[in-house]
Amino acid sequence: MTTTFEGLSFQLSEEHLAVQQATRDFAQTELWAGVIERDEKEFFPDELVQKMANMGLMGMMVSPQYGGGGMDTVSYVLAMEELSKVDASASVMVSVNNSLVCYGLEAFGTEEQKQKYLTRLATGQTIGAFALSEPEAGSDATSQHTTAIDMGDYYLLNGTKNWITNGGRAGIYLVIAQTHPEKGHKGINCLIVEKGMEGFQVGKKENKLGIRGSDTHSLMFTDVKVPKENRIGPDGFGFKFAMSTLNGGRIGIASQALGIASGAYELSLKYAKERKTFGKPIAEHQAIQFKLADMATQIEAARLLCFKAALDKDNHHDYVKSAAMAKLFASQVAMDTAIEAVQIHGGYGYVKEFHVERMMRDAKITQIYEGTSEIQKIVIAREILR
Ligand code: CAA
Repeated sequence: MTTTFEGLSFQLSEEHLAVQQATRDFAQTELWAGVIERDEKEFFPDELVQKMANMGLMGMMVSPQYGGGGMDTVSYVLAMEELSKVDASASVMVSVNNSLVCYGLEAFGTEEQKQKYLTRLATGQTIGAFALSEPEAGSDATSQHTTAIDMGDYYLLNGTKNWITNGGRAGIYLVIAQTHPEKGHKGINCLIVEKGMEGFQVGKKENKLGIRGSDTHSLMFTDVKVPKENRIGPDGFGFKFAMSTLNGGRIGIASQALGIASGAYELSLKYAKERKTFGKPIAEHQAIQFKLADMATQIEAARLLCFKAALDKDNHHDYVKSAAMAKLFASQVAMDTAIEAVQIHGGYGYVKEFHVERMMRDAKITQIYEGTSEIQKIVIAREILR
């Protein structure tokens, strides 16, 4: 098994440090205030989305010619970590828009599609959603029931999508659907659907365990006429499109998991130095020291895996395996760290004001969306057994 470490210098560039600092400042000032209320009341104000767009966070890796920041994936990992330390609901919006929708359009869209849609998405004039999952097609993504029947100059789209991040807020949706069922995954297409197209309805908003500030909806399509020019790639490319796009998406979610873990760890470290039991700060008890040591070690390892996947992508190496490894590991670290953060905080950890219970709830989804941990193991195993 060959492992490449091209570009790994353990030294962030000036640009990287600037992105990290700017996102950290933004998260600590703009996102921190109100994060508990947004979680409780399940909302995220448009003005805050606009502020993220103004920061250039919605199209970080998109070429400047389409209104993006032209940054590398390492910068994206750094920004995602900082946002997720504070508010994972904000960071999943950024992640889906950047690594699924914008990346998918830039990598595989036509020039017309990029001009028409990508610029709006990269600049945050509108936000995007990626509609792959269905009531009966989550991990088994080839088993699409949504149909896109070829009617000559348009596709007739029918079906239901479930658990779609940005589902209510989005203006542009990348929708995966089956055109030639007899061809299996080679009969699937991806269509660009705009909000407002006749027959397209946004369904119910999900009441979730975590990332409650982000809006997750079902989508319903009834005889929606989608112009042929809205298909991404050649006929039958939709499944490959979804898989290729998700490879990069998994770097985004791995970084989100890393951020949740770092956020929970930093709060725990601070609390452990302040809180006293048996006459001394709990940080002086070995039981707590061991927890902090485990957290710090796991987080460092997760960060290196995120950087490894990002560097593989930036250096045009295959990143299927490294992205899956980063997501598998970082999401477990997020879960373990957040649980221990609650434990360190004791009774305070179980109430909302101390943030770590929210982080524990937010962490769980990183083991589920954009491919469950079990799917990541399938992906990794296939790569190493190839
Ligand atoms: N990258 C590129 N291509 C890939 C790929 C990958 N990671 N995985 C598979 N493919 C290609 C294969 O090469 C194959 O192409 P060919 O026929 O040309 O060789 C084709 O896709 C079919 O592959 P498989 O036969 O391996 O397909 P499968 O049915 O066995 O499924 C799977 C493979 C890995 C299990 C896949 O279904 C999968 O990743 N499932 C999880 C789906 C997922 O991540 N869902 C998340 C929902 S989106 C979301 O959460 C977004 C959000 O809102 C936050």
